[in-house]
Amino acid sequence: MQNITSSTSSPASASRSEMSDLLLDAARDMAFEAGAILLRYFRSASLAVSYKKNTDMVTEADRESEEYLVSRISREFPEHAILAEEGGGREAGGGFLWIVDPLDGTNNFAHGLPFFCVSIGVYSMESKRVVSAVVYNPFLDEMFTAVRDGGSFCNGEPIRVSQLDDIGISLVATGFPYDKAESPDNNLREFNRVVPRVQGIRRMGSAAIDLSYVACGRLDGFWEGKLKPWDTAAGSLIVEEAGGRVSRYDGDPFDPWFPQILATNGRIHDSLSRILTQP
Ligand code: IPD
Ligand code: CA
Ligand code: CA
Repeated sequence: MQNITSSTSSPASASRSEMSDLLLDAARDMAFEAGAILLRYFRSASLAVSYKKNTDMVTEADRESEEYLVSRISREFPEHAILAEEGGGREAGGGFLWIVDPLDGTNNFAHGLPFFCVSIGVYSMESKRVVSAVVYNPFLDEMFTAVRDGGSFCNGEPIRVSQLDDIGISLVATGFPYDKAESPDNNLREFNRVVPRVQGIRRMGSAAIDLSYVACGRLDGFWEGKLKPWDTAAGSLIVEEAGGRVSRYDGDPFDPWFPQILATNGRIHDSLSRILTQP
């Protein structure tokens, strides 16, 4: 663990926020390097792809990005635990859990579509909340960041959610689970309900980018029902710190280990929640 010095006034909260800043600096640097790994493989004709199950694919780029991130976190923060999508994580006794998606948007990546990113959320075991977050799209060179109570940024510039309050003219996004062919809980019912009630709907293919786009006002809302902590941990904090609202479909508090997420600019939240949960 790196040394954190306390300030003279309010030492506990000062050292907490210094810690969040330090974690953010480290996460930002790691995401940048992992993004460079992804770019080396992007649009390569020889990219090795395999399937985990259903249509859930993994590429050599996912694996190399994860190996890099896990080894660097382990080296720089040996007391911290890691939860990483491709299984490279580890348990540890320290107070923080790094929640890592080494490549969010694998399907886009494998098809040469430039909507993919590295997502890193650092979760405090003490406060039971994500405290630092990074979502980095290396192709567009867009780095979305947030620390708890410190605001959200894109490439260092502050970002805010949109001000739109009429869901009828909103642009929202969603995604579909990999088991959509086998499971009736595949988001088609919700999708059919939302489509006629909004101006436009997008399926970008990266939940972490969807959340970052809600945070910076490019989208007014996003929902998805079968996500994992590595898809949402970082993006959920980036939305909240940009002034948005994040919950389950019914408005109950969001938890990265609960699969549903509804994230909006706040103003259309109740309307979208009602549409998603109507009997
Ligand atoms: C997927 C993406 C996609 C979402 C899927 C996720 P992956 O993550 O975020 O947008 O719809 O549910 O699993 O597999 O590309 O890391
Ligand atoms: Ca993902
Ligand atoms: Ca992934």
